[in-house]
Amino acid sequence: MPVGFDPPEQTRYRRILQPFFSPKSIRPLEPALRAQLADLLDPLAGRDECDFVGEVAAVFPTQVFLTLFGLPLDKRDDFIGWKDAVLGMVDASGTTVPAASEDGMRKAAELFGYLSGLVAERRGVPGDDVLSGLLCLEGEEALTDDEVIGLCFLFVLAGLDTVTDALGFGIERLARNPRQRQEIVDDPDLIPVAIEELLRLDPPAPFVPRVCTQEVTLDGQVLPTGTRVTTNLAVANRDEGRYPDPDTVDFHREDATHTSFGLGVHRCLGSHLARLEMRLAFEEWHRRFPHYRIAEGTPPRVKWPRGTIGLHALRLRLS
Ligand code: HEM
Repeated sequence: MPVGFDPPEQTRYRRILQPFFSPKSIRPLEPALRAQLADLLDPLAGRDECDFVGEVAAVFPTQVFLTLFGLPLDKRDDFIGWKDAVLGMVDASGTTVPAASEDGMRKAAELFGYLSGLVAERRGVPGDDVLSGLLCLEGEEALTDDEVIGLCFLFVLAGLDTVTDALGFGIERLARNPRQRQEIVDDPDLIPVAIEELLRLDPPAPFVPRVCTQEVTLDGQVLPTGTRVTTNLAVANRDEGRYPDPDTVDFHREDATHTSFGLGVHRCLGSHLARLEMRLAFEEWHRRFPHYRIAEGTPPRVKWPRGTIGLHALRLRLS
């Protein structure tokens, strides 16, 4: 939910969820998240090298989720383990990976057990975190325990690796493009625009699956009802007719829009949160580390095949 539903069910879920993820609702998180970034980044000062993905990009979005849901940060490593195992159960085409599925099922059961316990604990107890808010909804908007657990699962699966991958790809591109990196170091106000351009170039969730609910003719090709279609947002983002010189990083494009958060009714629910996380991470990182490059002999490798696309690691030379 809501990703597996069509309107009108999907519209109801979006109406209920939207207020929790609006810019107004997430803005108050900013000071706490900035302080968490300081705790993550300050220990790197004085080091010659780090793995930006393993030490920063994989950790921060999980902490954001825990903060948003009012959960203790010491659950972070459990959540990372649960999420990795569950995501590892299917490959990019949605096919179950046999070797991973047994461990995945066990970890999914652990995550389910933890979330079920929390839901039972917080039902009817007012609080200002998202989980308590979801559990306190009443009347037409009231959600069952199963619905709330399903939503928590979706946030873990949709909101963690996507941000990790976007941060990893973004810093990798900036490491390879020192001129553009210097632009944001000199003028941090450019960071929000830079984020859009980096997301355009490397969308972490480029494949959006759909099933035709009626016969469609597309470019002369008839797609019968029930046809499974995979659209590729990355291709739309590099449309030469729309973006001059589409493969280059340019923070001054006339058209700074892109499709990396999807299109239409299923457009990303967490886009404001993702942008906030990325802006804070880029601001805090570049304040401390304006100069960095990819460490010699460690070309970053892309995780593949996989539903969301990111880097295994990003070893950076910091001095
Ligand atoms: C840079 C980070 C992110 C990217 C690139 C991204 C990308 C996307 C895309 C492409 C879709 C559309 C899927 C479709 O049409 O089938 C989507 C949907 C969704 N995203 Fe994100 N996402 C990101 C971060 C987040 C975060 C942080 C959350 C946490 C709340 C989140 C929650 C969701 C949800 C719940 C949906 C389903 C919406 C619906 O079906 O109505 N995403 N995301």
